[in-house]
Amino acid sequence: MKRQPLLLAAGAALAVVAAVGLTLTTSSPAYCQAAPKTAPKAQTSQSKQSFREDIVPIFKGRCESCHQPNGEGTQKSGLDLTSYAGVMKGTKFGPMVIPGDPESSNLMLLLDWRASAELRMPHGKKQLSSCDRNAIRAWIREGAKDN
Ligand code: HEC
Repeated sequence: MKRQPLLLAAGAALAVVAAVGLTLTTSSPAYCQAAPKTAPKAQTSQSKQSFREDIVPIFKGRCESCHQPNGEGTQKSGLDLTSYAGVMKGTKFGPMVIPGDPESSNLMLLLDWRASAELRMPHGKKQLSSCDRNAIRAWIREGAKDN
């Protein structure tokens, strides 16, 4: 009769694991989680954003139709989003990305729709998902590297 309490304990442990698993999976998916605003140190252990793998696909799908050398966005603003050099060069008026400082980067201001309505990007289209914007934000915070 010594086994029963053990089995019960195992069952209880399993139930706890199941409950924790549930709360974990019902919150927003790991790939979409906002990077914590404070505690930048904690992020060094997390996966880093890659310009080529995480950021370029967003620009390709949502921005390049207008922001390529002959596109209207590039013609009007000078911003060419088809290359790293173009992204970092910014517009005719200056850089849009300040490495390490997403909050002062005008790119995030426009993408978060914190600027006036006519400057919201992408022009006339759906806002980028918070998932995409957080990826760009994290990439800038990590130094906006050509990685
Ligand atoms: C439908 C066309 C279109 C799309 C798509 C588009 N843009 Fe633009 N963008 C423009 C135009 C046109 C301008 C020129 C300035 C203006 O008219 O506001 C511009 C200007 C900008 C500027 C400079 C604003 C300034 O203050 O000078 C930034 C930054 C920008 N776009 C980023 C983006 C990003 C990032 C995306 C993708 C998420 C994007 N744009 C998608 C058309 C577009």
